Amino acid sequence: MSRLVVVSNRVALPNESRAGGLAVALQGALREHGGLWFGWSGKRVREPSDALHVQEAQDVSYATIDLTHAEHAGYYSGFANRTLWPLLHFRLDLVDYSRETYAVYRAVNARFAERLAPLLRHDDVVWVHDYHLIPLAHRLRELGVGNRIGFFLHVPVPSSDLLAALPSHRELFDALAAYDLVGFQTERDLGRFQSYVPLFGGGRVVDRGTIETAGGRRFRVGAYPISIDTALIEAQAADAFGRAPVQRLRESLGGRGLVIGVDRLDYSKGLPERFRAFERHLERHPELRGDTTYLQIAPESRGEVPEYQSLRRELEGLAGHINGRHAAPEWTPVRYVNRNFPHDVLAGFYRAADVALVTPLRDGMNLVAKEFVAAQDGTDPGVLVLSRFAGAASELPEAVLVNPYDVDGVADAIAQALSMPGAERRDRWAAMIERLRRDDITAWRRRYLAELRAV
Ligand code: G6P
Repeated sequence: MSRLVVVSNRVALPNESRAGGLAVALQGALREHGGLWFGWSGKRVREPSDALHVQEAQDVSYATIDLTHAEHAGYYSGFANRTLWPLLHFRLDLVDYSRETYAVYRAVNARFAERLAPLLRHDDVVWVHDYHLIPLAHRLRELGVGNRIGFFLHVPVPSSDLLAALPSHRELFDALAAYDLVGFQTERDLGRFQSYVPLFGGGRVVDRGTIETAGGRRFRVGAYPISIDTALIEAQAADAFGRAPVQRLRESLGGRGLVIGVDRLDYSKGLPERFRAFERHLERHPELRGDTTYLQIAPESRGEVPEYQSLRRELEGLAGHINGRHAAPEWTPVRYVNRNFPHDVLAGFYRAADVALVTPLRDGMNLVAKEFVAAQDGTDPGVLVLSRFAGAASELPEAVLVNPYDVDGVADAIAQALSMPGAERRDRWAAMIERLRRDDITAWRRRYLAELRAV
């Protein structure tokens, strides 16, 4: 079978111990047929450099390039994360409309294409990931690349009226037509994209899986909900549960219940609303005070972007406020931790928790929700409280589903989750784990790649 070439902004190099589920899955796909992973090295340099860093491990090559400080600021901290990210997460109020960053975004995509094209063999299948790289295939085509090229968008598609507010929306839409297959997370995302096409994109929906642009070029589209390595998480959680970091956490609780949240520090995750909901729960149940600890793990993310800095300050204020107001000498209600943990330790933490709060205001999928379910002990599982606005909600309807903006409703859900009887917890969990075992990350990438190869 032909070689696979994965392209993404971040590349999980083989010696990185903190690789998440997606990195593991893509590495699995690359090893299956041999392949190449191409992207940014993670390094920022002062002068433009043409260096290509190449590493090999287990039949997979990793090729990365550096970005200058100016490229990183305009492409990554600028157009990708101050324009596209808020727009795609329905946050027009946070969108930066500057033209300069869009020019840098296009230039960096062009540079990626120019460095990648000479590395391609004629029968490689190329799979490009996420909003950082929308125009990549268009530039590859201009360079004469005729390979099969697919794109997968990991984040949501907002309603078309929001998309139309982006000055460059038509250009980006037309650039998508250079791909053979464009994948979205859920049917809802696909539906919103299809409604954009005739309303603002100047194209037409030929049939459920085919789009035609104004210029007459056709491409395929579909929904491919991403998943996790279910068997791996199940094994990791059971194993980590007995080991030191998880034991220390459990001992520190002194028999109290544990509510857990694990999210990048990002405004799409609904963290201030979640903190307020936990406080509302404490206010409503003074008799339960001291019974539960809420551990929020929130590693810093995109710290150069001003909106992320102000979120960080807001959460520090809220955590301090809740603890100052409700803590007792022997108990702190909120433990707020701005660092990351190895994947297997997190799986052990999930298994130790009674409740997980996964309440993003918007999320393409949210793999923490799926991993929390996979990490549970089926004889005594914890309860997942999940936002209706996460892609995962359509596959996990047995979770306690909430509207994350509704602080009172989330406070009700916390109380419901903490007092749910064992039989109900087991029934809900059994339905969810069955689906996750079937629709795991391997099934996801096989289905996408089979459809890309068949186009
Ligand atoms: C989201 C995006 C990914 C991104 C990740 C981490 O999941 O969909 O493309 O890699 O966040 O964000 P970062 O900006 O640190 O790469």
